[in-house]
Amino acid sequence: MTADVIDGKAFAADVRARVAEQVTRLKADHGITPGLAVVLVGEDPASQVYVRSKGKQTIEAGMASFEHKLPADTPEGELLELVEALNKDPQVHGILVQLPLPDHVDADKVINAIAPAKDVDGFHVSNVGLLGTGQKAMVPCTPLGSLMLLRDRLGSLSGLNAVVIGRSNIVGKPMAQLLLQDSCTVTVAHSRTRDLADVVRRADIVVAAVGRPEMVKGEWIKPGATVIDVGINRVPAPDKGEGKTRLVGDCDYASCAEVAGAITPVPGGVGPMTIACLLANTLTACCRANGLEAPQDLTA
Ligand code: GUN
Repeated sequence: MTADVIDGKAFAADVRARVAEQVTRLKADHGITPGLAVVLVGEDPASQVYVRSKGKQTIEAGMASFEHKLPADTPEGELLELVEALNKDPQVHGILVQLPLPDHVDADKVINAIAPAKDVDGFHVSNVGLLGTGQKAMVPCTPLGSLMLLRDRLGSLSGLNAVVIGRSNIVGKPMAQLLLQDSCTVTVAHSRTRDLADVVRRADIVVAAVGRPEMVKGEWIKPGATVIDVGINRVPAPDKGEGKTRLVGDCDYASCAEVAGAITPVPGGVGPMTIACLLANTLTACCRANGLEAPQDLTA
């Protein structure tokens, strides 16, 4: 079997276009421009790339982008003051503090200082609790984007066996919640899981989010399963020349694609969906802040 390739890039472009359409309507009908503030502390190269990309795509969607780049030694108190100012700013409907934060900053404290209604990452404990109890929440962007790809591919997920590899607050845990809500039987695997290959072999849906390059092998995959590779790992690529690198996922793409029914590539799979969902969440936050109906179908 050769797996179908799930084109997250095209899917994300479609989501962004629909967000942009709604933004145009909001401006024309109500004179409102959704605004997203992104806070970056320090100079982590991967974070800088993400933040640049977020800013560019925010503007392309017709929204206002507010970037706050702070030095790595910014005191926690200063960061909390900035978050407080953004909470109060009526032009800002969504706030994203890029993770990871430097070690001297308590990331939980900063995230929980964000007004839950502006928490477009869905990381605030209020949103985590709402999601976990099946209530209307801001849903974390990467799991939401992954779920959209799964629903598009499979239709109903009800009754399917799903394995989420990784238990992070950003991806693994919220992904498990979303799959559970869609009536999957969910297993969350992690670094202490025994016989991971056996666990994965039972799954109709595999979501790999461990951050270990090419860890999931084709022989672990149930024939016909749908594989969502959330990993983005930069590895040396000596075949491309000295010092060159390439991006790989958490799945060994070549061997997994031989067995799976469908698989997301890296790059071009889940990655583009994250920012598309961030824009959709910002639009939703803006609509709710203005007492307007949030467009449901964007992330349905
Ligand atoms: N770092 C890696 N992924 C994310 C994300 O989705 N949101 C934030 N805020 N930081 C991240």
